[in-house]
Amino acid sequence: MGRGFLQTVDALLSRRRVQLLLKPRKTLPQSLLSASAAVFLNRCAASFAKRPLPLESVRAISGMIGAAGLQASRSAMSFYRDRVYPHIVAAMGNPEPIQKIRQQVVPHAQGIVLEIGVGPGVNFPLYDPAKVKKLYALEPNRGMVQRADIQGRRTKLDLEFLDLPGEKIPLPDASVDTVVSTFTLCTIPGVADAIRGIARVLRPGGQFLFFEHGLSPDISVRRWQQRTEPLFQWAFEGCHVTRNIPEIVQQGGFRIERMDTGYMAGFPKCGSYCFWGAATPQT
Ligand SMILES: C[S@@+](CC[C@H](N)C(=O)[O-])C[C@H]1O[C@@H](n2cnc3c(N)ncnc32)[C@H](O)[C@@H]1O
Repeated sequence: MGRGFLQTVDALLSRRRVQLLLKPRKTLPQSLLSASAAVFLNRCAASFAKRPLPLESVRAISGMIGAAGLQASRSAMSFYRDRVYPHIVAAMGNPEPIQKIRQQVVPHAQGIVLEIGVGPGVNFPLYDPAKVKKLYALEPNRGMVQRADIQGRRTKLDLEFLDLPGEKIPLPDASVDTVVSTFTLCTIPGVADAIRGIARVLRPGGQFLFFEHGLSPDISVRRWQQRTEPLFQWAFEGCHVTRNIPEIVQQGGFRIERMDTGYMAGFPKCGSYCFWGAATPQT
């Protein structure tokens, strides 16, 4: 890759306007929307009526427009989160190489199982109903739960949805035999709290099965991961590509018993360096 090209990409990504654009989606402040509406109204009045509108009318109308704009931008955000994002994850989250690794990891689950961030429920058919007594399916996104519910009904699993985030697992200490996480540790905002929670709910000798993507060991890929991190966060609801998954798991109180790593073909390298294996809580 040409040095000039990389410098141009770096320069572009470091521009304030681009960074603002890529910040995790936030609604525009209502005051900004109202102020823009006020300027627009005054311009129209000056052009068509050739005199300014009375201040009270401008305040009232721009206030209403600001509130409506805020409502519209909130609706657009929740439409993306609840409708578009689940669709993207369902459509892109399980190409063949990833499906093959899921098939190696998920069937190890047994007993009382907790899966965090189940998404559209792509792992459900991979659990062995003869080994899994109960599956707690934790997922805070309503749109995902709707899809996962349909998927769950096609299995023989005893399934219960938990709609809290992974940072607040609503289960007692040492009550779970296996915790499963696939492509979720990249997205959970409070990932350190979530890992500690996973260690808390696992019984001694229980297993944490993981299949996650994160920080590559290759310097050139890492640079691209740092460059593209804001894009991933923006498009995939806070997904990080630079999280050091084994470090996060170990710092959360686990010993990694086995782990494989590799790039998953079909995705750009910066988003496809994966870690999969099993860890046990340290006593
Ligand atoms: C990339 S998707 C992965 C979905 C699924 N595990 C899979 O393997 O396809 C990330 C999932 O994490 C969920 N998630 C986001 N924030 C979360 C949180 N704080 N706790 C638990 N799950 C969360 C998202 O709603 C989404 O379903």
